[in-house]
Amino acid sequence: MAKHTIVLVPGDGIGPEVSAAARRVIEAAGLSVEWVELPAGAAAVEQGLENVLPQRTLAAILAHKVALKGPVTTPIGKGFQSVNVQLRKKLNLYAAVRPAHTLGGVKTRFDNVDIVVIRENTEGLYSGLEQEVVPGVVTSLKVATEVACTRIARFAFRYATRNHRKKITVLHKANIMKMSDGLLLTCARRIYEAEYPNIEYEEMIIDAGVMRLVQDPTRFDVLLTENMYGDVVSDLCAGLVGGLGVVPGSNIGDDAAVFEAVHGSAPDIAGKGVANPLALIMSGVLMLQHIHEETLARRIESAYQQVLLEGKTLTRDLGGQAGTQQFADAIIAKMR
Ligand code: NAI
Repeated sequence: MAKHTIVLVPGDGIGPEVSAAARRVIEAAGLSVEWVELPAGAAAVEQGLENVLPQRTLAAILAHKVALKGPVTTPIGKGFQSVNVQLRKKLNLYAAVRPAHTLGGVKTRFDNVDIVVIRENTEGLYSGLEQEVVPGVVTSLKVATEVACTRIARFAFRYATRNHRKKITVLHKANIMKMSDGLLLTCARRIYEAEYPNIEYEEMIIDAGVMRLVQDPTRFDVLLTENMYGDVVSDLCAGLVGGLGVVPGSNIGDDAAVFEAVHGSAPDIAGKGVANPLALIMSGVLMLQHIHEETLARRIESAYQQVLLEGKTLTRDLGGQAGTQQFADAIIAKMR
């Protein structure tokens, strides 16, 4: 097996705990890997670096093309721009892919949920273009470009085709934001009609869409949406299958890919050793698929599925008492 070089950004909050667990599981699966560990966010500040997203972290991800990243905290209402938003924009990681599916052993309201959220990752309201026009009046600019809308729509259809998915639902609010959300619809329709007429295609206004998602998530397959709706809807989908501890994610661009869980730095449980590392481990599985190490990906999947089904070693969010590393150890034990 060729040796892979992978950038590891542990992040902050529960990041270092869950990334240590994910790293051990990936190594135990047999990956031949050199980790290049680099900071971002609060961890960079703690190391005395001036920039929360150091140039050498960005450069390493571009050089090695693949990173596994823990969450990083973003200050609310003030302070630096989100490291995640900066990272996605600077590396042009334009597609966030976030699968949420039912897991054996994880009790939820619905069975057979199998949804993939594909979120435009570089523009929309998360462009960070906010200003105080006059005292007491602020504006926040929602950016939509034909290039980015076409690119994410094509990505979604290609993803659906390659992964044997049947249907794409575009979630939008083009009844109100006729031009910006309207542009995503125009671009998605164009790609559907010209390039992928064999995939089923539907459009749904987001408010009705989320209601139907909680009523019957099994009717959905691939969801395509803009940046902010995608952020919100992916947490909703996480809730449908067992919470933020069990949903992975990836940020894909043409030059690099960064794999990270949907969850954040969870300050309420950071440092306690109780966070569920499964979401980042599952993100590691997506990463292994991306670097064509499918056998190892399957090995990890099968191991965590056994641990979940047995139900003996589960973290607190899944109703158990196990700590972060204990849960990782249980997965590793299944691979021996
Ligand atoms: P959060 O996802 O960190 O936490 C929400 C709730 O879920 C908390 O109760 C937390 O304890 C729980 N939770 C999250 N991950 C868990 C895990 N692995 N195991 C068990 N429980 C888990 O969301 P929140 O509190 O809104 O954000 C905290 C910080 O994280 C913010 O600064 C936010 O900006 C940042 N964030 C970073 C992300 C990233 O780096 N990709 C993504 C989302 C948020």
